[in-house]
Amino acid sequence: MPLLFEVFFFFIVGAVSASLTSDYYQQLIAQETAKSLTYELPKKNEEFKTGYESNAINDYGEYDLVIVGAGTAGCILATRLSEIAKISILLLEAGGEENDFNQILAMWPYNLFSDFNWGYFSTPQKRSCLGMNNSQCVIYRGKVIGGGSSINGAMYVRGNCKDYDNWAALGNRGWSCKDVLPYFKKSENSQVDGDEGYHGIGGFWNIEYSLPESPLLHTFINGSLETNLPFIDYNGRNQIGVSKLQSNIKRGRRQSFGTAFLNNARKRSNLKVVTKALVTKITIDRRSKQATGVEFVTNNKKFRVRARKEVIVSAGAINTPQLLMLSGIGPKNHLKDMKIPLVVDLPVGKNLMEHPVINLIIHTNYTAPNISTAESVEQFLNGLGPLTKGANLEGLSFFHTRNTSTEGPEIQLITASPYAVDASLFPKLINFNTTIGQAFSKQLQPQNDMVWYVVLLHEKSRGQILLQSNNPIDFPNIDLNMFEEQDDVDVFSEGLEYAFRLLETEAFKKVNATLLDISLCGDSGTHSKQYMECLMRNLAGTGYHPIGTAAMGPDPRKFVVDDKLRVHGVGNLRVIDASIFPLGISGNTNAPTAMVAEKGADIIKSELK
Ligand SMILES: Cc1cc2nc3c(=O)[nH]c(=O)nc-3n(C[C@H](O)[C@H](O)[C@H](O)COP(=O)(O)OP(=O)(O)OC[C@H]3O[C@@H](n4cnc5c(N)ncnc54)[C@H](O)[C@@H]3O)c2cc1C
Ligand SMILES: *[C@@H]1O[C@H](CO)[C@@H](O)[C@H](O)[C@H]1NC(C)=O
Ligand SMILES: *[C@@H]1O[C@H](CO)[C@@H](O)[C@H](O)[C@H]1NC(C)=O
Ligand SMILES: *[C@@H]1O[C@H](CO)[C@@H](O)[C@H](O)[C@H]1NC(C)=O
Ligand SMILES: *[C@@H]1O[C@H](CO)[C@@H](O)[C@H](O)[C@H]1NC(C)=O
Ligand SMILES: *[C@@H]1O[C@H](CO)[C@@H](O)[C@H](O)[C@H]1NC(C)=O
Ligand SMILES: *[C@@H]1O[C@H](CO)[C@@H](O)[C@H](O)[C@H]1NC(C)=O
Ligand SMILES: *[C@@H]1O[C@H](CO)[C@@H](O)[C@H](O)[C@H]1NC(C)=O
Repeated sequence: MPLLFEVFFFFIVGAVSASLTSDYYQQLIAQETAKSLTYELPKKNEEFKTGYESNAINDYGEYDLVIVGAGTAGCILATRLSEIAKISILLLEAGGEENDFNQILAMWPYNLFSDFNWGYFSTPQKRSCLGMNNSQCVIYRGKVIGGGSSINGAMYVRGNCKDYDNWAALGNRGWSCKDVLPYFKKSENSQVDGDEGYHGIGGFWNIEYSLPESPLLHTFINGSLETNLPFIDYNGRNQIGVSKLQSNIKRGRRQSFGTAFLNNARKRSNLKVVTKALVTKITIDRRSKQATGVEFVTNNKKFRVRARKEVIVSAGAINTPQLLMLSGIGPKNHLKDMKIPLVVDLPVGKNLMEHPVINLIIHTNYTAPNISTAESVEQFLNGLGPLTKGANLEGLSFFHTRNTSTEGPEIQLITASPYAVDASLFPKLINFNTTIGQAFSKQLQPQNDMVWYVVLLHEKSRGQILLQSNNPIDFPNIDLNMFEEQDDVDVFSEGLEYAFRLLETEAFKKVNATLLDISLCGDSGTHSKQYMECLMRNLAGTGYHPIGTAAMGPDPRKFVVDDKLRVHGVGNLRVIDASIFPLGISGNTNAPTAMVAEKGADIIKSELK
């Protein structure tokens, strides 16, 4: 072929395929967003019922390691451990594969109303979630390769150095700030201009700022500077201050752990990944108290697989305690009530921590450009624009309240620029009841409204996970128990007070920023304690950050795993996921979970040698 012709040919084919791609994404977005608006969340694990109830149990053979759950932790573990060619690994995941839609970060709220989400709600609450339908907060959990990392907001946040020193101070050797920093850096391929010495380059997990920035991001930064917060790299030297968001995207696309990690390992012959497989039980030899494998259901059939070396549970902070309890590991009395024979008495499911979050809708007189889907898809294909942002999340700050209880910040404030909320989805997203949902919907102006998420970082109240029954087809009971402790109300009040102060800064006056108030709690102008408490108890949801339900520590009366992540009193069984966090994190939980998995993989590798 003459060169000129070849170039011409390439040009034509390239142009046609680009427009085909653009059409494809426009259709995909139209279809999937429409579908999610009418999607009904499941009430139990119905899809696995037939298989679970079948009498025959099939043999699935033997592997060295069996990993339960291909979420954040499971994907990292499978990738790192399958580097050892002589070790065979079976990775079992209840959800299916990722798709093109969930690669578009801006679509994450829609993914929550799809079969990528388990479908959980809290139990009806008495002191919180009161403005939600039936006083139940919604609990989103990823059920897909990548787990939470495939449906989350992709905010890259490590928390405070001191958080990990607090873990170590409980008696967990090797978990101090200095010990864990290398594991944060190991995963990372940072493209941000952060503090020197704090970021990794060349890891699997890409981090970048999303572009272009809205002018309101700079309003937020300027307003925060007026309140005396410094401009910082919040994943660097100092966490108290204001920052641009560092995001888990690569050229604008979501970097889940399926995409960023597991895809590197799936071709390895020593790793087998099975999707749409629900693990229903860890099998344990009663005499030796050693885990021997698991039972699982897939394709309407029941299987048993043996683990030669060990079983690793990475099913996340809700499902991990459920699976442990179904297998006889948990609080003695509860298991007795559920008619499950006890293997070891451990405080599984206790110590549930969350991040209470209030969404403040801030009206401004800035009007975001109304970009057509075609145009935003065009930008997306070039790695830019609104589709590359998680609901327009752009900036964040961390600060102390006057009543300091920890060395890290007590409050996180996240800002999203206009078009962060889809008026038709907003009430459903938080499960607001009809009265409250309508009050908000009436006033929303998506082209002008910012959303501020005010996050209480270190709640003192503790919730718990209990079984509803001994049947794995039933969902577990999730009792969040937010705001039981008055201290949480007091500290959170101060966080809200700060947000109201920020609203009064010159930067925000310039855009005539005002709080959207639905008049539920009396006069918003007073900012009285009663007003703040009323906002919390009625309108606060969660940050989707459950942790702590199989906590790490030396004493089996208080903790579930030791500092090598081994379940106390049971051999060949580890928990490696967000359940093991013994104390809260000053930030979002995905990067800390990744750190735990990177470290867990190293611990196991050193023992295999
Ligand atoms: C909507 C949402 C937004 C979030 N936003 C952010 C954010 O912006 N930044 C951030 O840092 N964090 C965020 N998070 C939190 C973060 O994603 C989680 O902390 C993290 O994914 C936890 O990882 P994990 O490995 O513990 O559990 P998961 O990622 O939940 O993985 C558990 C996996 O196990 C599978 N599984 C469970 N039970 C079984 C079973 N019995 N058999 C087989 N498989 C099973 C699940 O399907 C899942 O894939 C968000 C979470 C959600 C849900
Ligand atoms: C919604 O919650 C609010 C606040 O608790 C309450 O006043 C209202 O009656 C509830 N509405 C419905 C329809 O349940
Ligand atoms: C609210 O809850 C009730 C009962 O729990 C249910 O029937 C109804 O469909 C729910 N409404 C919404 C909007 O979810
Ligand atoms: C923020 O402050 C800088 C410096 O004072 C100023 O140049 C810029 O215009 C401000 N931006 C906004 C959006 O307020
Ligand atoms: C945005 O533009 C579309 C057409 O491109 C139009 O249908 C829609 O009403 C506009 N939205 C607003 C808020 O102006
Ligand atoms: C701060 O703590 C002190 C002592 O615990 C308490 O008396 C005071 O009321 C608290 N202040 C606020 C604003 O909550
Ligand atoms: C927004 O409000 C401010 C303060 O009232 C005003 O100075 C500014 O001109 C307004 N801008 C627009 C675009 O309306
Ligand atoms: C500022 O916003 C408020 C509330 O939205 C509105 O009533 C007022 O007219 C606005 N002021 C200016 C100067 O735009």
